[in-house]
Amino acid sequence: MTSTSDAHNLLKAANLSVSAPMPGGRRALIDDVSITVRESEVLIILGESGSGKTILSRSLTRLFPVTSDLRVDGSVTFEGQDLLRLREGELSPIRRRKIRYVFQEPMESLNPLARIGQQMRLATGDQSNSDTLLHSTLRLVGLDAGQELLDLYPHELSIGMAQRVCIAMAVLPSPTLLIADEPTSAVDASLRRKILDLLISIQRDRMMSLVLITHDLDVARYYGDRIIVMYGGKIVESAPLKAFFDNPLHPYSRQLVDAQSTAQKHASPPDRNAEAVTPDVRHQGCAFQPRCPIAENKCKETAPDMEQFAGEREVRCFCLK
Ligand SMILES: Nc1ncnc2c1ncn2[C@@H]1O[C@H](COP(=O)(O)OP(=O)(O)OP(=O)(O)O)[C@@H](O)[C@H]1O
Ligand code: SF4
Ligand SMILES: [Mg+2]
Repeated sequence: MTSTSDAHNLLKAANLSVSAPMPGGRRALIDDVSITVRESEVLIILGESGSGKTILSRSLTRLFPVTSDLRVDGSVTFEGQDLLRLREGELSPIRRRKIRYVFQEPMESLNPLARIGQQMRLATGDQSNSDTLLHSTLRLVGLDAGQELLDLYPHELSIGMAQRVCIAMAVLPSPTLLIADEPTSAVDASLRRKILDLLISIQRDRMMSLVLITHDLDVARYYGDRIIVMYGGKIVESAPLKAFFDNPLHPYSRQLVDAQSTAQKHASPPDRNAEAVTPDVRHQGCAFQPRCPIAENKCKETAPDMEQFAGEREVRCFCLK
């Protein structure tokens, strides 16, 4: 993927592939993905369930369980070093302080046996963080943090409070990059907007880069600066946000944006189950071909590469020129 200037790039992943062992050989879950995260931007990663958003975001810092047999290839350049070449002992301080994550399920991210204050310190590896700093960080995420909150266990929190605590833990060491993987999918609709607004206000105040993973076009449209659309473990389109919504180029992007406009007209959400087909990345031709309204014969045989278009856009489709 191209960028305006390397000087403004915070992180650059090139030719990233993640594969898992399957009967008959390794299968690519992420296939030759290149992305750039620029300083102080909100980069949206959009894609339906199973498209590879979580695997991609975790592969940037090799954040997989130690027992995982996923293999990550490619490079991830951050502050002049390739994160994929670092040893675990060199990578973990970067995960603790510079590239932080917020996940979908707050209760899975919290240690059920540790009090909130204790786990905020454990998460960043900095036992010297003062109560004052913990309180001010909790206030940043809208939690009125008396001493009693630091002394609570996770099961004593509501889901909304738990997710705010997770965001506080993520921003506590002032990371340069926050990766939020569907951070509001566990909370109810009334809280979603509040939590996303909080994230964005912290991102702006701290000039931090935010990768916001979502399958919700409204979230993408409202909060993003640039967007990457994933399908079947590959990027199919990347674009500045306004250009994307004004004129989505890839047939899949068009379907998504059209479905959203139709849903808005009829005041009902698109049928997400209808979209929730896990594409088969082993498909010989274009992975989107079975669902593509403009597919041609060659789309069954050959997989398209990313092509550049005007206005810093890239699209994976033969049939647009
Ligand atoms: N450890 C693993 N081993 C094998 N396959 C995996 C593993 N983890 C995920 N997958 C598969 O990789 C694909 C991408 O998964 P991923 O979790 O990244 O999707 P996603 O886009 O984040 O979906 P969702 O929106 O549901 O969170 C899916 O087909 C999933 O089943
Ligand atoms: S390459 Fe062919 S099948 Fe794939 S999106 Fe383009 S037109 Fe559709
Ligand atoms: Mg996911």
